[in-house]
Amino acid sequence: MENENHVLRALERLTTRPARSYDTLTLTPLTPVLGAEVTGLDLSRELTPQQEKELKHAFQTHHVLVFRDQDLTCEDHKRFAGVLGELHPVALAAEDSDPHILEIRADKDSTAVAGNGWHSDGTADAEPSLGSALYITTVPEGGSGGDTLFANMHLAYDVLSPTLRGFLDGLSALHDGAKPWTDAGLTPPPEYDVPRTVQPVVVRHPENGRKLLFVNAPYTSHITQLSRAESDALLAMLYAHVAQTPFLHCRVRWQERTLVLWDNRSVQHHAVWDYFPHTREGRRVAIDGSRLRS
Ligand code: SIN
Repeated sequence: MENENHVLRALERLTTRPARSYDTLTLTPLTPVLGAEVTGLDLSRELTPQQEKELKHAFQTHHVLVFRDQDLTCEDHKRFAGVLGELHPVALAAEDSDPHILEIRADKDSTAVAGNGWHSDGTADAEPSLGSALYITTVPEGGSGGDTLFANMHLAYDVLSPTLRGFLDGLSALHDGAKPWTDAGLTPPPEYDVPRTVQPVVVRHPENGRKLLFVNAPYTSHITQLSRAESDALLAMLYAHVAQTPFLHCRVRWQERTLVLWDNRSVQHHAVWDYFPHTREGRRVAIDGSRLRS
């Protein structure tokens, strides 16, 4: 049996990294391995070059950044997300809506809520999303519930046994944009140009160069080098590993006027729907990414 020192070493690498101090913002980590609250930035104003530089460093280090008490118009929201890249158009946007703003709402009439399960946004795209910025404007009545969970996918990979990591390194998987529809017993609308892309199971993050596990239940159809039964079993094991390893996770408790920015390569997220029949709403902007390689 492999010893588990690699798990401790992976945690040690993250938990003993020297805390970087910034000139223009202050960070309070959510956990030693994932997420940070950021104070000192007013996102309704254009960021200075130094603020942008520090924001990008903080984003690469913590992967999930939480900004409280922000008064943001849609234009402010898009300008802020645009600091990290081009904005990604919303699939199947209504003609009279902003093509880059996805309205998020769940209430007493909802029978399902998008994002209520571990996933990353846009992994079936040939160039998967760099990140998303979600601004919540209404939290469930009473102020509790509707949290979003995040999982560190670098660490999810690093803590697997060396033998399993070596096996996964050589694999690829088909990501299918129709799968969320077919899993729900639906057919994608004919006007939806369904994205389908074979991605490495383990990719190198385009900015930090570190490996991460890149499969998620809603979009990953199967591992192309394995039989269906083998692929289903291996994917189920990896999804259970992500969901059932709490030290991979951080949890964001929303307040009204909170914006959270996350990296869709290095984290997965899960929007917990525990507040029915109350209302939660906000708007999300996604940022274009690049082709991912192993
Ligand atoms: C999403 O899956 O992008 C939505 C996340 C959330 O509502 O917290």
